[in-house]
Parts: sequence; C-alpha cells; structure tokens
Amino acid sequence: MNTTSNASSLLLYHASQLVTPIGNSLKHGKDMGKLEIIPDAAVYIEGDTIKETGPTGMLLKKHPLDTAGMESIDLSGKAIIPGFVDSHTHFVFGGYRPEEFMMRLSGAQYLDIMKMGGGIQSTVNATRNTPAETLFSDGFTRLNDMLSMGVTTVEGKSGYGLDKDCELKQLEVLNRLNKEHPVDVETTYMGAHAIPRDYPGGSSAYIEFMLKEVLPLVRDRKLARFADIFCEEGVFTTEESAKYLRVCKDMGFGTKIHADEIIPLGGGELAAELGCVSADHLLAVSDKGIGMLADSDTAATLLPCTAFCLHKPYAPARKMIDAGCAVALASDYNPGSCFTNSIPLIFSLGVIHMGMTIEEALCSLTLNGAGALKKAGAIGSIEPGKKADITVLAYPDYRFLVYHSAKNIVTMVIKNGKVCYPIG
Ligand code: NIG
Ligand code: FE
Repeated sequence: MNTTSNASSLLLYHASQLVTPIGNSLKHGKDMGKLEIIPDAAVYIEGDTIKETGPTGMLLKKHPLDTAGMESIDLSGKAIIPGFVDSHTHFVFGGYRPEEFMMRLSGAQYLDIMKMGGGIQSTVNATRNTPAETLFSDGFTRLNDMLSMGVTTVEGKSGYGLDKDCELKQLEVLNRLNKEHPVDVETTYMGAHAIPRDYPGGSSAYIEFMLKEVLPLVRDRKLARFADIFCEEGVFTTEESAKYLRVCKDMGFGTKIHADEIIPLGGGELAAELGCVSADHLLAVSDKGIGMLADSDTAATLLPCTAFCLHKPYAPARKMIDAGCAVALASDYNPGSCFTNSIPLIFSLGVIHMGMTIEEALCSLTLNGAGALKKAGAIGSIEPGKKADITVLAYPDYRFLVYHSAKNIVTMVIKNGKVCYPIG
C-alpha cells in the first residue's frame, strides 16, 4: 500500500477480479445473474466517487503509481465486489432473548410466544429502559461487526418503543450512528411492529396514534425515509396495513411491509398493489403474490437467516427469480426471530438451500439491496459515478463467497473512497 496522508485520489490495482452488477435500478429475474467480471482489474477513485474501472494495464498508463497525491493499493490475489447493502435489520435494541430461543428449540412457536407477552414486547420493555447512549454504543459495536463482513450500507428500523418517546429515541440513535460511523445507516420508522400490550382501543386506536402523533414528528424532524408494518396474523391485518401504508405514502415515506412471514395473508399482493419499495420475508407468499411482485417495482426482500433460525421453509427464491421478481437478500438482524447478521450465512443459505446462483446472490446483496432502499443510483455496483464502496476478498475468485461456506472472507473494506476496515 502506498499512502500519502492528504491524497485525494486512490488507485486499486491488480485485483484478480472485479465482479459487479451494472446499473442504476433493481435487476429483475434472469438479469440478476448477469455480472461484469474484469480480470486483473483496477479502480480509480477521486474523493468518495469511482471515476474509472478497467484492466490494470490500461488504468496504470493513465494514472502511474508515482502520480502526486494519489494513493495506491496492490490487490494481487484478491477479488473485489461492491460493498454489501443489508437492506432489512432491527439492530438498535435493548436486552436479549436467549430464553425464548431455547423455548423455540423445544417446539414453542414464535407467534405463541408473542401472544404470551414475550417476543417483540419483551424487547420493547428492555429498549424503553435502555439509555440512548447505551443504544448508541451497542449500535456502534454492531456496525463495526457488519463492516468487518463487508457491509457498507445498512437499513435500521425502530419498532422497539411502540410509543412516541422511545420510538423517537431509537430513530435519533440510528441517525446519530449514520453521522458518526463510516457505514451508512438508512432509517425506517416501524412503530407498527406490534400492538402495544393492553393499548386502549386496540389496533385501530394505535394506528390512529401513529398516524396523527408520531409520523408527523418523524417526517418533520427528517428521522426516517421509510415506514414499515408487520402484517401478520394476530398483529396487523391486511386491511389495517393497507390503510396505514397509504397514509404513510401520502406523507412522503417510502413504504415497506413485513409480508407473508408466517401465515399467507396476501402481504406480497398488497405491496405490489400499493407500490411499496419492498415486501420483506415472503416465506409463505402465494403464486399470485409472486406474479404481482414480478410485474412491479417492489423489491422482494428475502431473509434466509430468519427462516433458518425459526426452522421454517425458506422463501421460494428460485421460483420468484424465474417468475421475474427483483430479489434482495438481507439479514433481518434482531434479538428475537433472527439473532444473526452473518452475511456469509446468508450467501450459503441463499445458494445452497434456496436455489439461487452465486451471481444472483451477489446481485441481491449489492445492487438489489440498494434498490430496496431506493439508492441504486448511488451505490450497489462498482462503476463510474457510484460511491466508492468496495469490499475486498481474501481469495482471487468471488465464488469463494459460497465455496468457503459460512466463513467471512472479507479482508478489506473501502467506504466512500477510504479504507475503513481493518480499522486503524
Ligand atoms: O422481521 N417479524 C417481525 N419483526 C422481526 C422480529 C422482531 C423480533 O422478534 O424482535 C422480524 O422477524
Ligand atoms: Fe424484520
């Protein structure tokens, strides 16, 4: 590595492969598998932006290693791919739920634990009692861990307050993390994660409360770009979800929906009909839902680690891609249904158990993850004009992402044109 402290440009060269989807929007169906692969590749970066990519010989002629003010990094033996975009997480929370995990191992069902007052409500109690400073420092540590696995942009949801103050506290923490941590954090308001226990007037009164008393503050203080709802048996019905999301959209929020996670309620269909940015989970999506999503601009965000941890059948990724859906993969990192943020595990499950190709899985965690956050014009691929968010692998071939199963093979991460991992 040749570094000059005030360098304004950076040349990555002799990368054994540059592997990336190309484009500024979601890839649907078979287009997901079409990646550009440049052997012995170089990337020329100015500030935080990619200016040129191509064969090393070509870029070295234009930008010799002794160019004043230019840093350079020799990546011989290493493949480079876009930074990962984890487009669905709940990573700011208080407390843990290991006892629930043990109950599930003994046969208890996720929704039954929730009905008994455990589940999300138990993390709500803990998060309300956790100071913002602690949520921030825990969140910062979790972001470091994500960065070490090559994640350069992550979405984070509120939804463990289910009131005004604690929901705003979570969103403020997420926004502070976005400012102070190198990983970009995109924020989603998810007050509609559960109905607070014993809420007077039940779900319809709680929906009114969110729409009238919380969402206007979230919008005016610019605390979240997206609004999300858990459409599930015993939580919010399809009708309630439709009503809520329509108003959220009119208020200017991008909309997301936890859809068909456990019981097939038609959440996939609803997302396509309403023009949601993404429909997430879809373990139990119907054929009609698949068809409607394929014809829409809604990302179908699949969360393999949740199915793995809940011991449920995986979402039908192969069928969805063959039907023409734009599939994104994400972690769903949360303390309940899925206490893992493992990108390597997502790759292994996506390819080995859900029938995706490695190329489709790569697209789903980069460009389609970006599309699921309406950021595909800025991130998600390595091409001129995009932010210089690049993940460097310890091996010369991207296929090691699955071949070296469930193992983190990330050796370096460049975020906004700066080496951010390893730290220091
Ligand atoms: O996406 N399904 C709802 N929300 C999360 C789980 C949250 C929790 O259990 O704390 C999910 O699986
Ligand atoms: Fe979730």
